[in-house]
Parts: sequence; C-alpha cells; structure tokens
Amino acid sequence: MRGRRLSVATRVALVYFLVSILYIYFSDRVLGAAIEDAKILVLVETYKGTGFVALTSLLIYSLIKKSQKENERILGELDRKVKERTAKLEEAMLLAESTNRTKSEFIANMSHELRTPLNAIIGFSEAMLSGVYGPINERHREYLGDILTSGENLLSLINDILELSKIEAGSLNLDPDDFSLKELIKSTAGIFREKVAKHGVRLEYDISDGTDVMYADQRKIKQILVNLLSNAIKFTPDGGHILITARTVAEGRSGGAAKRAAGKPGEAGGGGGAKTSVEISVRDTGIGIARDDLPRLFQAFQQLESPYQKKYSGTGLGLFLTRKLVELHGGQISVESEKDQGATFTFSLPTERSYERTNG
Ligand SMILES: Nc1ncnc2c1ncn2[C@@H]1O[C@H](COP(=O)(O)OP(=O)(O)OP(=O)(O)O)[C@@H](O)[C@H]1O
Ligand SMILES: [Mg+2]
Repeated sequence: MRGRRLSVATRVALVYFLVSILYIYFSDRVLGAAIEDAKILVLVETYKGTGFVALTSLLIYSLIKKSQKENERILGELDRKVKERTAKLEEAMLLAESTNRTKSEFIANMSHELRTPLNAIIGFSEAMLSGVYGPINERHREYLGDILTSGENLLSLINDILELSKIEAGSLNLDPDDFSLKELIKSTAGIFREKVAKHGVRLEYDISDGTDVMYADQRKIKQILVNLLSNAIKFTPDGGHILITARTVAEGRSGGAAKRAAGKPGEAGGGGGAKTSVEISVRDTGIGIARDDLPRLFQAFQQLESPYQKKYSGTGLGLFLTRKLVELHGGQISVESEKDQGATFTFSLPTERSYERTNG
C-alpha cells in the first residue's frame, strides 16, 4: 500500500505543474491583453521557462529517488540469496567431504582384505613354480605361471586404486630423502631386464653427472619410472629400443616438452629465475600415439586401444597415477609422439628442497 502512495517530491511536482499551467493560462489570456510592454512579456516568458525547468528537475529527482530505493531493494534481495546459496554450498561440501572420507576408508579396507589372500596366491604359486613342494610337469608350470601373472596384475591394480584414493583424499604424503638417481634408474631398469631380453628390445640409459644426487620421495619416483618403462616395453615391438635420459635444465628452458604437456600440467616448479629442475625422459621406438589422442592421455581409465581388439594388458591408470605423483613433487609431465614414430614421456622435478617430509 505504502509503495503505491505518491512520494512528497512527486506531489510537490504535481502541485507546481498545476500552478504553472494555471499561471501560463491566465498570464496569456487575462494579462496578455493588458500587458503592452514587451519587457514584461519577456519576463513572463522567462518565468514560464524557469517553471518548466524546475518542474522537470523535480520529476527527474523523484524518478532517481524511486530507482535508488528499487536498487536497494534488489541488492538486499541478492545479498539474501547469496547468503542462502553459500550456506547450502557449505552444507553440500561438508557432505561430499564426509562421503569421500567414507569412500577412501572403504577402499583402504577393501584393498587390505583383497591383498591378504592375493599375497598368499602369489606366494604359493611362486613356491610351487620353484619346485619346493615337489616336481611339477610342463602343463602345471604353464598354469602356475598364469596364476602368478594374474595375481601380480591384480595386486598392482589394487595398489594403484588405493594410491589414487589416497591422492584424492589428500592423504598421500611425500617421504623425501637424498638418493642417487643413477642407481635408482639402474635398479628400476634391472626389473625389466629379463622381459626386454626376451623381446630383443635394447634398454639403455644416459644420465648426466649433475643429476646424480636427488632429493625426492624415492619410492614414488621409482613408481613413476616403472609405469613409464612398463608402457614403453608394452608398446614397443620386438627388436625396438628404449632410452632413459636424465639431465639438469634451467627452468623455463626445458626441451619444450613440458610446455606441450598433455593433460593439465601442475603449476608448481614455475617461477623462472635461476631455478633448475631435473628432466627425466623415457623414449621408445614403439607404436606411438596419434596427435588427436594425446589430450586423452594422463586421464583415469583412458586406453587408446579399442576395447574390441584389445591386444595389450592394463587398466589405463598408470599414466594418470604417474601424473599425480609428478605433480605431488611439484613437477610436470608431458609427451611427444606421433603414430608409428615411438613416444617420449618426459617429467621434470624441481631440484630445490621445496618439499617437507610429511608422514611420520
Ligand atoms: N609408450 C607408449 N606408446 C604408445 N602408447 C602409449 C604409451 N604409453 C601409454 N600409451 C597409451 O596410453 C594409454 C594409457 O596408458 P596407461 O599407462 O595409463 O594405461 P595402461 O598401460 O593401458 O594400463 P596400466 O598402466 O593401468 O596397466 C595406453 O593404454 C596406451 O594406449
Ligand atoms: Mg601403463
């Protein structure tokens, strides 16, 4: 009701308007004849003009006042809505956090429950294969070999999922230490020695001296190397070549690979200046990756091979996990490849001791 009532300014303006109309009418009709003098006529006209200006100003003032009030009302309404939505978002975030925590706990428990029998399967098949329980024939050897490989694959998948859930929950911490990068690369390559020899693949490394002592989470760097090397071996046909290189680069002058990072490169490690980082590459002469497929790498459960003609084993978690582990160290990972031209995966790690030991 109150909103409909005319404001004081509007009422004054209306009264003034009426008075002016009456005045103009009478000054023209009644006084006009009597006033002979032109000077008085000019004065009357001036007064009429001033009256109109005053009237218009009053009207404008009243309109501005009205729109100010309307704006205040809209702002008040917006403020209330923003507060309401923020409260709802906070509520949803708390719920999501608690659901995520429950999911992580579930995965951790599940992994433990699955790993215990799996370790028994792996351990016993290994022992039977080695002949400690007596001699076995060729067919048994083949089946036991299958049980062992499947068990190991399943164990590695469970470990990957557990690791991922920890990263997502923000509870995967770094345990950095000083170690020799050369020794780590040597021992990691050693894991694959038998496999590469069987396929006639040459596995070599070229590590520049300055990179030898590193400060990082050795176990996680090994995991990154294992993931990249197992891919290189898996996707390189017999007789191919795999080369691991490590060198120190001044930040902002990396081979360019880091700038074409597939996926979303982390921001850490940036900043330029005189900072240096270690760049580790795994290059192979394998089947390569088509340019259009590059953006799909480093995402969870992404395999480029069609599921209908699946030739290679795996679940598509390796590179996703690798990227997360590199980023956890403040580094970046990238790939350079073309179809049938091999692939080079490069990751960089800052050399400065920027991370603290975070677990107990
Ligand atoms: N060196 C490589 N050469 C060619 N393609 C590759 C190479 N590395 C990865 N890829 C492609 O990227 C996909 C994703 O790799 P990723 O390591 O994440 O999964 P995966 O090896 O298939 O399975 P997982 O590592 O979980 O056992 C692979 O399936 C393959 O298509
Ligand atoms: Mg892989």
